[in-house]
Amino acid sequence: MERILITGVGGFIGSHIANSLSKKGFHVIGIDNLSTGNSSNIPSDIDFLNLDLANASQFNRIPKGSLNILHLAGQSSGELSFHDPAKDLEKNTQSTLNLIKYGIKNDINKIIYASSMSIYGDLDGNSGLASENLNPNPKSCYGISKLASEKYLNLFKDELPFISMRMFNVYGPGQDLNNLKQGMVSIYLAQAIKKKKIVVKGSLSRFRDFIYIDDVVDAWFAALKNEEAVNNKINVGSGIKTTVEDLLKKIMIISGIDSYEVVSGTPCDQKGIYSDSKKSKELLNMKQTISLDEGLNKFYNWAKNNI
Ligand SMILES: NC(=O)c1ccc[n+]([C@@H]2O[C@H](COP(=O)([O-])OP(=O)(O)OC[C@H]3O[C@@H](n4cnc5c(N)ncnc54)[C@H](O)[C@@H]3O)[C@@H](O)[C@H]2O)c1
Repeated sequence: MERILITGVGGFIGSHIANSLSKKGFHVIGIDNLSTGNSSNIPSDIDFLNLDLANASQFNRIPKGSLNILHLAGQSSGELSFHDPAKDLEKNTQSTLNLIKYGIKNDINKIIYASSMSIYGDLDGNSGLASENLNPNPKSCYGISKLASEKYLNLFKDELPFISMRMFNVYGPGQDLNNLKQGMVSIYLAQAIKKKKIVVKGSLSRFRDFIYIDDVVDAWFAALKNEEAVNNKINVGSGIKTTVEDLLKKIMIISGIDSYEVVSGTPCDQKGIYSDSKKSKELLNMKQTISLDEGLNKFYNWAKNNI
């Protein structure tokens, strides 16, 4: 049985990936400090360690023998990164650096990292299409922490090969519907179901790239398996541009509400961005992704019973 170390298994994306790999027959060692994650998300058939990755002195508790690391633990909210930039740096960068050192010391094959479209910042002159060869220019403390992690990964790649997964807006069942600071789709859907009214922070003309969780799980598995993906930074998105207004309309139709309010935006929010998906099609086989309509329906059906 191949042993694999997965961080962030109490969170949204990490728990889905841990569950999928465990079902595929991997022996999953899962780590989380449950700061935003929840123990109820952790798949019951994995070995779990409650450990803070920012504290390297705890790393001797990690069982040896993993071949690869999937690193999804982190602070995930751009908005919260402004409230406490030092904490964001600790959770996103210090933790990653500690894990890189651990990976080198323990002869890990490769580390796959949960990076973000936030590293790009605002894109002038190309209508928001983000391709991996653009110069990143983050607008949030969160984006800076994620970019710094990528730079550390790149610096140590000869000793520990890496893949950086620059994920766009991931959504789907398992998102924390009580957390109104992280995840655009889950924030709107939770408000629609609970409050029958959606408060939108920022302009309706902003646009994003929404990618359903199952496609993201498949992309991470493809990255794990494809040696040609090593030492690459790869966008993980649908390649489809959707305005906040379009998203809002779809959520209002699904949830049967007709009320929303637009208030001022969060600090330094990106104007509009979507993924150039050429590289992910080639290296991660992301050829056909689940449509936003289908994904939202699945998410809504889950959310109304889990809120
Ligand atoms: N959700 C998205 O749309 C999205 C997009 C791009 C990148 N990402 C990144 O993907 C990763 C997973 O995101 P998510 O949406 O599942 O977030 P999440 O908050 O649901 O999960 C993150 C998990 O990491 C854990 N964690 C945080 N700091 C830790 C530490 N120091 N030690 C151990 N565990 C720690 C949290 O308790 C939580 O369970 C994050 O790194 C996030 O920045 C997410």
